Amino acid sequence: MSDNRPVGLFDSGVGGISVMKELRKILPHEDLIYFADSANCPYGNNPPEFIRERARIISDFLLSQGIKLLVIACNTASVAALSQIRQALVIPVVGIEPAIKPATTLTRNGRVGVLATGVTLAGERFTSLVERFADGIEVYSQACPGLVEMIEAGQIESEDTKELLSAYLEKLLAQEVDTIVLGCTHYPFLRPEVENLAGEKVKVIDTGSAVSQQVARVLAANQLLTSTEDSGQEIFYTNGTSPEIERVIRQLWGDPNLIVHQINI
Ligand code: DGL
Repeated sequence: MSDNRPVGLFDSGVGGISVMKELRKILPHEDLIYFADSANCPYGNNPPEFIRERARIISDFLLSQGIKLLVIACNTASVAALSQIRQALVIPVVGIEPAIKPATTLTRNGRVGVLATGVTLAGERFTSLVERFADGIEVYSQACPGLVEMIEAGQIESEDTKELLSAYLEKLLAQEVDTIVLGCTHYPFLRPEVENLAGEKVKVIDTGSAVSQQVARVLAANQLLTSTEDSGQEIFYTNGTSPEIERVIRQLWGDPNLIVHQINI
C-alpha cells in the first residue's frame, strides 16, 4: 500500500526549514507542505498555553491541506504541544527534541553543551532527556535569546549575529564542553559559525537528520510512503507580513524562484 498525500511541517518561523532540507534528502519523492508561524515568532517568549493554541490552529490548517503525517519541526513547540497534538490527530505526529542521547555517546570528556530556547530548556521533556541519558555526563545548557530573531531577519552571517552567538558559546566553552547540541531548529543555519568559534576539537550536532529518518520509518511502518517516482513538490506558507520573510525562506531553502504563499491564520 502507498499514500500520495503530502507530509506537513511547521515551526515558529523559518527554523524548521533546516529539518525539511534533511527530510528532502532522504525522501526525494514525497510532497512537503511547510507552515512558518512568522507572525508569532519567536515562540520562546510565549507561555506554553499560547504555543499549544498555535500548534492546534496550524495542525488544523495543515490537515485541511490533506497531510498524511505532521512534523512539529520546532523543539519549543514539541515541548509545549507534542502530546496534546498527538492525542488530537488521527495521523502520525513526529516531534523534535535536543540530541542529548547521541551527544552522550559522542563526548569523550563527559561534558556536553546545549544551545536552545528558554522554553525548551525549562520543559519537563528536556529534564527527562537529561535524566534518562546523561548518566555520569555533565550537561551545560545555554538559552540564546535574540538568535532566532536574527535568523528570521536573514542575518545569518552578520557581525551582530556572530557577536551574540559568540557570547552564548563562550559560556559553554568555558565549561570545556567537547560536544555541542543545537537544540533549536533555527540554529543549524549557524552551524558553520558555531564550528568556527568552537574549534575543530568540538563536535556540533543537531537533530534534523535523525528526525527525518524517524519520519521515513513511521511512513514505512504505516504504509504511507508515496508510490510516485517523480520529484516531490514543496509548498511554503507563512502568516508573516514582512516583505523580508519571503526572501529569507527562498534563501534558506535555496531556490530564488520559490513562491511563498501568504495565509492569515
Ligand atoms: N525553531 C524553534 C525551536 O526549535 C524556535 C523557537 C522559537 O521560536 O522560540 O525551538
